[in-house]
Amino acid sequence: MMRLLGALLVAAVLGMPALAAESSWTLEAMTPNLTDKPSLQRGLRLYANYCLGCHSLKFQRYERTADDLGAPHGIVMENVIFTGQKIGSLMTTAMPEEEAKGWFGAAPPDLTMVARVRGVDWLYTYLKTFYIDPTRPFGVNNKVFDNVGMPHVMMELQGTQREVCKGYEPLDIVHGEALIGAPRASQCLLEVEAGTGIYDEKEFNAAAYDLVNFLYYVGEPTRLERERIGAYVLAFLAVLFVFAFLLNREYWKGIR
Ligand code: HEC
Repeated sequence: MMRLLGALLVAAVLGMPALAAESSWTLEAMTPNLTDKPSLQRGLRLYANYCLGCHSLKFQRYERTADDLGAPHGIVMENVIFTGQKIGSLMTTAMPEEEAKGWFGAAPPDLTMVARVRGVDWLYTYLKTFYIDPTRPFGVNNKVFDNVGMPHVMMELQGTQREVCKGYEPLDIVHGEALIGAPRASQCLLEVEAGTGIYDEKEFNAAAYDLVNFLYYVGEPTRLERERIGAYVLAFLAVLFVFAFLLNREYWKGIR
């Protein structure tokens, strides 16, 4: 029994790097900022326009989201809810799961927890690394999610991105040994064809940032509230300290 457990543990530990090494592409760091309300609001708007048609946020209500992000209900009704849902509705999608599986090979998952499961760096890099690959059903592939079933939904914003690989010498004369095979990923770069996207590179990076920032908020909506409450608690403790200090002095008066 112990041996079996041990073997399982070893298998799990050995298996982990294999999972993490899904791709050798270097992730780009992204630091979320929940105090940047305009960024979160832009993220919500982008999400509604480009993602919500396929990916629900089924634990999130429009109303709560609007309030948390400081967005007026009227504006959210107009710019975010295209499905005739009410402001109090959950952010579900009309996409039928079974059919979606047939269309994309995999049903688009709910994205409520995705920032916590995948991490913000992965998400940010994922959104930026769709590239043209004619062998795929939607004509695109992704650098951190190989053979992804999702189309490049923001192609109109980013433009046409291609993989450009540096030429390499099949015969490495310096080392005197033959290097045979495809160029390594580290030798390949992604390049957007100039003028093909509505956004330039900086604007597209900002859009990807806002989307991931929004998904980070969605992963734990109470974080905003907690930080607010945390500030009150610290202020309260600071005031309490003054009184405790004065009281302490009063107690020891005449003893010392
Ligand atoms: C046309 C439908 C569609 C749209 C629109 C869409 N996706 Fe997807 N998405 C999918 C499908 C299908 C998958 C599953 C891919 C797979 O498993 O191969 C997926 C997978 C993902 C994943 C990976 C989830 C995981 O952890 O495995 C993320 C993240 C994601 N989508 C984010 C987005 C974002 C952000 C947007 C909006 C910019 C968006 N998607 C728009 C269909 C869509």
